[in-house]
Amino acid sequence: MTPHRTASQKPADHLTPDEAYAEHQRLGAEIKEHDRRYYEEDAPTVSDAEYDALRKRYEALEDLFPELKTPESLTQKVGAKVSEKFGKIRHRVPMLSLANGFSDEEVEDFVERVRRFLNWTSDAPLAFTAEPKIDGLSLSLRYENGRLVSAATRGDGAEGEDVTNNALTVDDIPHRLHGSHIPEIFEVRGEVYLSHKDFAAINERQEAAGKPVFANPRNAAAGSLRQLDAKITASRPLCFFAYAWGEVSAMPAETQHGMMEALRRFGFKVNPLTRLCTSVAQMLEHYHAIEADRANLGYDIDGVVYKVDDLTLQQRLGFVSRSPRWALAHKFPAQEAMTVLEGIEINVGRTGSLNPIARLKPVTVGGVVVSNATLHNEDYIKGIGGNGEKIRGGVDIRIGDTVVVLRAGDVIPKVLDVVLDKRPADAKPYEFPTTCPACGSHAVREVNPRTGKEDAVRRCTGGLICPAQARERLKHFVSRNAFDIEGMGEQRIDEFYEEGLVRRPQDIFTLQARNARNLKRLENREGWGETSARNLFAAIEARRSIALNRFIFALGIPHVGETSARLLSRHFGTFEHLRETAKAAADETSEAHAELTSIGGIGPVVAEAIVEFFKEAHNEEMLDALLAEVSVEPAEAPAVADSPVAGKTVVFTGALEQMTREEAKAMAERLGAKVAGSVSKKTDIVVAGPGAGSKLAKAAELGVQVMDEDGWFALVERG
Ligand code: IVH
Repeated sequence: MTPHRTASQKPADHLTPDEAYAEHQRLGAEIKEHDRRYYEEDAPTVSDAEYDALRKRYEALEDLFPELKTPESLTQKVGAKVSEKFGKIRHRVPMLSLANGFSDEEVEDFVERVRRFLNWTSDAPLAFTAEPKIDGLSLSLRYENGRLVSAATRGDGAEGEDVTNNALTVDDIPHRLHGSHIPEIFEVRGEVYLSHKDFAAINERQEAAGKPVFANPRNAAAGSLRQLDAKITASRPLCFFAYAWGEVSAMPAETQHGMMEALRRFGFKVNPLTRLCTSVAQMLEHYHAIEADRANLGYDIDGVVYKVDDLTLQQRLGFVSRSPRWALAHKFPAQEAMTVLEGIEINVGRTGSLNPIARLKPVTVGGVVVSNATLHNEDYIKGIGGNGEKIRGGVDIRIGDTVVVLRAGDVIPKVLDVVLDKRPADAKPYEFPTTCPACGSHAVREVNPRTGKEDAVRRCTGGLICPAQARERLKHFVSRNAFDIEGMGEQRIDEFYEEGLVRRPQDIFTLQARNARNLKRLENREGWGETSARNLFAAIEARRSIALNRFIFALGIPHVGETSARLLSRHFGTFEHLRETAKAAADETSEAHAELTSIGGIGPVVAEAIVEFFKEAHNEEMLDALLAEVSVEPAEAPAVADSPVAGKTVVFTGALEQMTREEAKAMAERLGAKVAGSVSKKTDIVVAGPGAGSKLAKAAELGVQVMDEDGWFALVERG
């Protein structure tokens, strides 16, 4: 096919609207066909330059005849070629994270918690597996009828990137499962990692080629797997350990260790240091043995993972927030290093908090160069502690001090200690600013009305006029777990903010339309081009529709994190419902207020922050403008929509005999019910055990259905 066959020879501005329309149609079809050949057949028939010429002409037509820019236009879609990124794969079973513990006591507490949840005595036999926690990146492999059909990274846990072609180049990942009794559908999860030896070799090669070196094996593994060109992945000797699973049509075993054995039979590597333990003492013994052998393993691990062995118990224990109740990651102690504090900078956060950052003489801590660390807040610098954290020596921190820096896993490094012997004679106590460095407004420490205590955090009172707060809110808005707008990183926000292009969330969605009218078009600015501008607009377009929980989280309501956003989304179902209730809840005696404060997991501080947020006229204004641009998808119906209690509000009261209160709550939520703490008109079912008092009376008064534990089990068909 000759590239310009369908492109008219006339300059675009000599075309009549009808001619332009016809050519735009023809070009669109041709570009699509090239995309298909390129992406699906891996066999393009035109050069990149020829392809680009077609796209340019297509866009030129749209610039001259804006009515051609319909939602169906190729310029409005995030095509693979346009965005140059991976396709997405939705995980059928979410990929979750693990709760962490750092001490032997925390392991004891974990086992104790499991027993309590199950209502087991302290001597009832309970087994756990213990295995190394690999410091790599997790990957989910889907096998259908024994064949590998897709591979996805963890992503945000709900949706990951499609890296199938790359996974196929990893030796430890079988293309076909071995042996017999292979489930029809089998999703295997595990960790992709690099050995120390291969990591060193890759960095040597990078260096020789004048390319940047990787900071650690995990980054190198991630960089190698997420290559658009699978040939590069193939040249990096990635390894894989299997340790978990997602969707499975028929479970090949009933225990965690049995599943590991099955994974091994099917052709995977499972970690040889996996042990079955029947007591806390054995778990800790294995932990310390692995820790002692850590340096000889040849690959990075950052702790030991314990998992309840019996899969039926795993099921009963379920999840809390984003991690299973049946597992714990026992992390190795963090790493420390000494360096000099060269300065203290104040960052203004999204909610106006003045956050002190330590500028350090760069130092390597556990293989990573650290030059910034958190100093928490004013009291922490004074050495008197705030929010329970206190500097180890109990002294204040001064510029010029030699300090001990701690880095633990992925968390931000922090200044842990001051070496007083090395304090320069002229070092002066640090004076924390009382005005905002970004806008000059007063910065104050509020007094909590309930406790009468001064807040540890000093906050800027500038609100909307403070550019730092506005920027941080925007950065939060576009961040990965919020709107997740590709190409809208922190620097972009700073740049757009300064130029006045984006000052409020809603401005993001009008950027393209304004750009079309702007004299200084984005694509003509320094550091920009046709492609980068197009990609950005496409990424924005792709987010005009957004899940309710992400939308709520993106608003940046103080104290409303991802978990609360998810709970709110599940409870209210639509944004309108949340908004109406939150507004009505300003009246503390209202039904709405009772509803908001009775949602499981939403405490009084969060509820108050929500009410405050919706009270503000400028937030209302922002929401109206934003909702004119984006549509918020209603929350997905609970996974178990057909359960008899799905969507119902349940209250448990009195003593429960067959399950603990916690288990009852988890079970109800698993079945799609909402669990509330008090009885109201919205309550559907009250499950009352012996000794139930006022809630039972209230239920009778309101005519709410009441049942005992047996009745509950009969209803949900278990027990
Ligand atoms: S089990 C539902 N086992 O740690 C929990 N995870 O902090 C499934 N990881 O995302 C995870 N080694 O990437 C499990 N032996 C191991 C692991 C392991 C490393 C990673 C995994 C997970 C993260 C959670």
